[in-house]
Amino acid sequence: MLSKADPVTREHFQYIIDRTAQEDPFLQDLKQAAREADIPAIWISPAQASFMQILLRSSGAKEIIEVGTLAGYSAITMARALPQGGRVRTIELNLEFADFAERWASQSDVSEKIEVHRGSGEEVLATFESHSADAAFLDADKRNYPLYLRESLRIIRPGGLILVDNAFAFGELLLEHPSDPEVQSVRDFNDLMAKQEGVQSVIVPLGDGVWVGVKTDD
Ligand code: DHB
Ligand code: MG
Repeated sequence: MLSKADPVTREHFQYIIDRTAQEDPFLQDLKQAAREADIPAIWISPAQASFMQILLRSSGAKEIIEVGTLAGYSAITMARALPQGGRVRTIELNLEFADFAERWASQSDVSEKIEVHRGSGEEVLATFESHSADAAFLDADKRNYPLYLRESLRIIRPGGLILVDNAFAFGELLLEHPSDPEVQSVRDFNDLMAKQEGVQSVIVPLGDGVWVGVKTDD
């Protein structure tokens, strides 16, 4: 049931965005270079990035895995929330995207904290040890989200954080006739996540909707 509180409107979201830390010139330059390299402009928003950093810092995360590097924006953002010795292992199937992200990560202030792994999520996740991460961020092909969730729940420790992008399906979640073929995959995944045992989770309406979950048992 909805509460009687004011419904959240577009204006509320704009208000939130206006009061959230903006990205630095390095990330602005990264985005510009990514556009020039014809990398799809589908990185996370600054408000979502800040929120994810808050979650990572407050949970004391040291080891993060990511599926879907794209240009490296989220990997760099997340790495900035890690303590010394922390690491983001990020997986990218597209070799051009992986090269771009690796180049930008190496020029960033968190170059020592990012490892780009080339291959499919399925292949690479299988090589990661169980309980070897504190947090996971899923942001790749939506059809394989169930597989990435299963593997992430193996790889993160109990109490670990699981973040999943695009719960609102590129803004098309509630459309009767969505144009994007991945919308149905997102809907199916949302239903799966909502009843997933061993995870307490909620969709947070920042960016395109981000699932935030905690692994409650093994
Ligand atoms: C789109 C956005 C994303 O964040 C993503 O992971 C995939 C696609 C999009 O807007 O199409
Ligand atoms: Mg995404």
